[in-house]
Amino acid sequence: MTKNARDLSFADRLSKMETSSTLAVLQAADRMRASGIDVIDFGAGEPDFPTPEHIKAAAIEALEQNFTKYTPAAGTAELKRAILDRLAVDYQTEYRPEEVTASAGGKQAIFNAMLAILNPGDEVLLPSPYWVTFPEIAKFAGATNRVIDTESNAFVLTADLVAQHLSPKAKLLIINSPCNPTGRAIPCDEFRKILNLAFEHDLYVISDECYREFTYAPVTPYCAGQLVTDGRDRLLIVGTLYKTYAMTGWRLGYALGPAAWISEMVKIQSHSTSNPSSLSQKAGIAALRGPLECVQEMLAEYRRRRDFLIAELNRVPGFECVLPEGAFYAFPNIKGFLKQSGLNGSKAFEFELLKEGHVALTAGQSFGTEGYVRISYAASMDLLQRGMERIRAFVERYP
Ligand SMILES: Cc1ncc(COP(=O)(O)O)c(C=O)c1O
Repeated sequence: MTKNARDLSFADRLSKMETSSTLAVLQAADRMRASGIDVIDFGAGEPDFPTPEHIKAAAIEALEQNFTKYTPAAGTAELKRAILDRLAVDYQTEYRPEEVTASAGGKQAIFNAMLAILNPGDEVLLPSPYWVTFPEIAKFAGATNRVIDTESNAFVLTADLVAQHLSPKAKLLIINSPCNPTGRAIPCDEFRKILNLAFEHDLYVISDECYREFTYAPVTPYCAGQLVTDGRDRLLIVGTLYKTYAMTGWRLGYALGPAAWISEMVKIQSHSTSNPSSLSQKAGIAALRGPLECVQEMLAEYRRRRDFLIAELNRVPGFECVLPEGAFYAFPNIKGFLKQSGLNGSKAFEFELLKEGHVALTAGQSFGTEGYVRISYAASMDLLQRGMERIRAFVERYP
């Protein structure tokens, strides 16, 4: 049994779970701000745009019409239809209403999905660098993580890499493309190969597509559900509305997958949070059925920031950064600078840069990969410019 200083005793299943290290940076930056220091924050993983007006209006209307009661745990039929229709139009996917559920954010869908299939002793194949939440949910479920290091292929997962990590205990493969924290996207043909390999080996697959809409031309976004027909009974797709439509606080995500898996997930949800907020569901329908210009505008702005940031990062001595195809993160290699400065790893860099340079970012170590840092460019051009000036000035202080 785990005990804390006050001798309260907590469940064993929590003993291996760690607090999100991306939140830790945000909290440290908040403390500095509270003491009057102007910190530039590249740690946040959320859009800096406001929620579009027509989406807000739908929530206000729902409130005025007293749409404020319980809905089915998996979301209303109207919302499920809107999710299915949006994906069918954009990606030609074919799913039925019993193969979709809404949730309080993509995170809850992933949590439910993993809890529904993992037993103690199972292994999760987890490409690194990974979003910090994946390994923690696996541990919570009593499973272990078998990490697939993708650094050798510039952080793009391949079927060969998966093949090298297969094991008799492996039950689930997690894929996140475009990826948090690297922004890299797996080419569509390679993704298909990975899925076919996984299904040949009876693996379940969660395709976390929360950044799917943040894919920059000439690369085109796709949904795993359109890539395979055989094996779809083991494939679960997770999406979120908040990244796409700048709806961070609304907490609305979804999952598409085999009816049996979805129904077990809904069972878990029905005994925990029940339905996602009724108002958010109405807002979500407006987002999914509404004009797409707002998404295109945000995307164009993110692309402009990406191009600026990557060029700037490659000018910093000891930094190297490949051009990410998606999401809103850059993941520069800072090994050259670490070596030259004597700083002991990406955590030390994160700490010193915040303390001395007043810029918050996240150490690669938090995502399972040392020698890199994650910079979120969900920040205005002005902040990116000023932040990069501070980073350069910080780096130049070292001989
Ligand atoms: C890779 C990845 N998946 C899922 C999520 C969860 O998103 P939501 O806020 O919809 O729960 C995030 C959020 O940062 C993410 O980065």
